[in-house]
Amino acid sequence: MHWDRKSLRSFASAVKLTIAGVVIGGAVAAAGTAIAQDAPPAPPAVTPEAAALAPLAFTAQQVATGRGLFGGGCAGCHGETLAGLDGGPPLVGDAFAHWYTGPVSALYDFVLNRMPLDAPGTLQPRQALGLVAFILEHNGFVAGDVALPEDPAALALLGFRQ
Ligand code: HEC
Repeated sequence: MHWDRKSLRSFASAVKLTIAGVVIGGAVAAAGTAIAQDAPPAPPAVTPEAAALAPLAFTAQQVATGRGLFGGGCAGCHGETLAGLDGGPPLVGDAFAHWYTGPVSALYDFVLNRMPLDAPGTLQPRQALGLVAFILEHNGFVAGDVALPEDPAALALLGFRQ
């Protein structure tokens, strides 16, 4: 087969276009997958008990604190996606919703005093708060400007609603 300059050039640009198409197509597909995976869960229904309490708030920084601890200290039993494993129950969805009938302080106290199961009492209050914020975000609550308070009495006034 004889290749003159012009057909070589158009062949080369066709190859480039094909590569670009594959790359762009792949990127779009990857973005689609990422969107599908990262789609935030719907906020949970507000229970009457939560409606009687003040709305909760937490910051992205608190979530980051929790995320930093969860992988090493909790995911082995509760799973990276919090969906539960043999060692521990799910921390998301319907199985977790029983907390929504009490104040946020109940969940905080539980995490602070009972978790991790193999080393309870080892978390600092700030770490337990971060873990609560991290769990809240996985359940459809949204981080904002106001932090979850470290004061347990203030935490006891907050319900699972925003
Ligand atoms: C060795 C396994 C193990 C580790 C590690 C562990 N958990 Fe647990 N977790 C459990 C088990 C088992 C339960 C259920 C038992 C219970 O309720 O007392 C539980 C219950 C919980 C609950 C309450 C779930 C519910 O719906 O009642 C929360 C919240 C929780 N864990 C958070 C954490 C956090 C945060 C960490 C990391 C600091 C952690 N766990 C580490 C095993 C573990």
